[in-house]
Amino acid sequence: MSTDAVNNSKRRFLVASTTVVGTIGAGFVAVPFIKSWEPSAKALAAGAPVQADISKLEEGQMIVVEWRGKPVYILYRTDENIKVLESDQAMLDYLADPNSDMSRQPEYCKNSTRSYDKHKKVIVMEGVCTHLGCAPKYVPDLNNPFAGSLGEDWKGGYFCPCHGSIYDLAGRVRKSMPAPKNLPIMPYFFKSDSVILIGQDGSKA
Ligand code: FES
Repeated sequence: MSTDAVNNSKRRFLVASTTVVGTIGAGFVAVPFIKSWEPSAKALAAGAPVQADISKLEEGQMIVVEWRGKPVYILYRTDENIKVLESDQAMLDYLADPNSDMSRQPEYCKNSTRSYDKHKKVIVMEGVCTHLGCAPKYVPDLNNPFAGSLGEDWKGGYFCPCHGSIYDLAGRVRKSMPAPKNLPIMPYFFKSDSVILIGQDGSKA
């Protein structure tokens, strides 16, 4: 199998034993919604941290977990994605807040990838548009037929179907969009390379 074929194959999303939610429209992809394993529903309602197992997540794939009643997007980006986020000037010029100065994220995620340096390919962020709260759709890359309509320089990200806001693969919103800010990032940390605790800083563990 060619490298391209392998990469395209990897970009398909996890299905397996999870429940698939989300709209499957032109250019959009289905993203598995992973029910929180722990803690209990009562604790969840109270805002307890939730744990996500990303051991089966592959490059280009995203899963959604729920925390405090909100969808949390966990995306495993490729090396190419990271290169674009860090140094593709054409993409950076599109952004309203490239350094996330006006946006909400922990200090350890205030960088160009908006993630932990050690796990920079994995981003964890609220899947809630900062305009009026819709769930932006994941539009992975230029191979996606929908991506072309987002501009020739578009290198993947998120599209909000409600009023058209566009974000990059670090949840950074483009200029002149209805959404005023980047997607928020909640406190989280890696309990191990494959387990993330969402809703709590590592320093408080
Ligand atoms: S809610 Fe996303 S653009 Fe309006």
